[in-house]
Amino acid sequence: MPGRLRLALFGPPGAGKGTQAQLLTDRYDLAHVSSGDIFRHNLRQGTPLGLRAKKYMDRGELVPDEVVIDIMLSKVMSIHADDGFILDGFPRNTRQAEELEAALTARARNIDKVLHIDVCEEELARRLGGRFVCRDCQAPFTHQGDGPPPACQRCQGDLYQRDDDRPEAVQRRIGVYRDETMPVLAFYRDRGLLADIPGKDSVDKVFKRIVETL
Ligand code: AP5
Ligand code: MG
Repeated sequence: MPGRLRLALFGPPGAGKGTQAQLLTDRYDLAHVSSGDIFRHNLRQGTPLGLRAKKYMDRGELVPDEVVIDIMLSKVMSIHADDGFILDGFPRNTRQAEELEAALTARARNIDKVLHIDVCEEELARRLGGRFVCRDCQAPFTHQGDGPPPACQRCQGDLYQRDDDRPEAVQRRIGVYRDETMPVLAFYRDRGLLADIPGKDSVDKVFKRIVETL
């Protein structure tokens, strides 16, 4: 398996993009580039970018392309040509996909595979309702009992619940995914890059499917 695998992960909110990205990162030594994590990090630092993104994120809407595209392209292009990466949450609409393709092509780079993790809406709502995220390493965990789970199982960091995991914001995010992000799947299908991965089974089973696809 080449170390310079270049992947993009697609799937609705709660499909398991972050979960699978971390497993893939560890397995194939890839850089994990998550647009949502970048915005949340900026918000915690109180940067103008974080404050601007917050109002869109809290409503479950996309942050405007003018804000997203420059930041994400500079992140992706700063990765050394010999290193692989996994994109999680970007591109998220057709314009972002076109601009990413143009920027990669200009540097004789490309995406090797686009993994579409497919999960039904009832399961998404169940997962996000019980999701806690590590403040330090961003790893997500599901916890259905009372009270927060004690600490991150990966790095022992503090866990918190995301503001956009309220039921109204989750519904809005699922709608935005359907209207704005699903058309990007056709963009990659046309290029022969798309792999559909059924995502409702256990984390390990879904990971095994992805590895087999790669
Ligand atoms: P972002 O952070 O990208 O969120 P999202 O796409 O809504 O996806 P999530 O992170 O909620 O879910 P996930 O698929 O990563 O699932 P996870 O692995 O955590 O974006 C947030 C916001 O930022 C957007 O709404 C937008 O405002 C803005 N934004 C980001 N990118 C943008 C862009 N490019 N353009 C414009 N705006 C942008 O898993 C979920 C839960 O399920 C966890 O608890 C996990 O433990 C559990 N789980 C995972 N897999 C399984 C499994 N197989 N079985 C059981 N449980 C599982
Ligand atoms: Mg995520």
